[in-house]
Amino acid sequence: MTAAVQTSPNLATRLVNSILAIKPLANLAKHQARQMMIKRAEDMGVPWTKEVQKLQARDWQTELAQVQNPELSYPDYYLTSFHAYETGNLSWQAAFEVEPAAYAVHAKIWQGAKAQGDAKLRQSYHDILKRSLAYEPQDILDLGCSVGLSTFALQEVYPHAQITGLDLSPYFLAVANYRAQQRQAKINWVHAAAESTGLPDASFDLVSIFLVCHELPQLPTQQILAEARRVLRPGGYLAIMDMNPKSEVFQKMPPYILTLLKSTEPYLDEYFALDIEQAIIEAGFQAPAITSNSPRHRTIIAQVSG
Ligand SMILES: C[S@@+](CC[C@H](N)C(=O)[O-])C[C@H]1O[C@@H](n2cnc3c(N)ncnc32)[C@H](O)[C@@H]1O
Repeated sequence: MTAAVQTSPNLATRLVNSILAIKPLANLAKHQARQMMIKRAEDMGVPWTKEVQKLQARDWQTELAQVQNPELSYPDYYLTSFHAYETGNLSWQAAFEVEPAAYAVHAKIWQGAKAQGDAKLRQSYHDILKRSLAYEPQDILDLGCSVGLSTFALQEVYPHAQITGLDLSPYFLAVANYRAQQRQAKINWVHAAAESTGLPDASFDLVSIFLVCHELPQLPTQQILAEARRVLRPGGYLAIMDMNPKSEVFQKMPPYILTLLKSTEPYLDEYFALDIEQAIIEAGFQAPAITSNSPRHRTIIAQVSG
């Protein structure tokens, strides 16, 4: 009985791995997964196709030129396929689809949440932030801000703060810049690597890292923690929200589903294996508080030590 239970996921995993090893089949699988995601979004009232077409029709040269650092060189780990986009985060298509994709992916975190799942996830993080921070942060850095979803959400929580959003993708930042103009939001967008931001020492009260670490190998994560420590003021806070490897959802996930997930998230194994608590302490923070904020996510808050 037990043997049969253990054998079937292994077989399924091997089958998934064999399919993914054959490029045309892997492409077909990614195409199917993508179509399913678009359908899920459209079915719950998120107009994926229409919104993406609207963005495609614009001329982006001005927004791009305002944020892009043409001198920037990208770390190798970033120049890989992510989320089934061949050129990862470095494309207009990825940038135009980030927002509806976030709604589709987060729709299933809580039963019945649907298109509200994304907002609920951010709210659950902000609730922990608000009760954990001893003071209202004046200067906030959102590392891996993408098209600004996490940045604008932080601005709503802390409307009097000066907020900087930093990302490696100039395409994502161009969309963020456009969205900021639409909302008349004043945000400082920075095109840089989170591990070497170029921002001054001790210039922030809060560094927020929302859904970024699972996209990173361990070394850059450690470097980013050290960089966060450098730019934080004494008493400043680091806050990280990401997948919770210890949650039941991941512990009980059938291995073949995990394999499928890993095919679009190249560094998930490294993320799952990292002792993030220890890495945070080694970067110069007090022992962090780790709270589960969704059935499959955790929020980590740590204050600068000393
Ligand atoms: C899943 S997205 C999260 C986006 C955003 N924080 C949100 O809540 O929607 C991860 C983002 O991290 C960015 N990123 C990944 N590695 C990075 C690095 N080393 N430095 C800066 N940004 C990075 C990616 O370009 C992408 O925009």
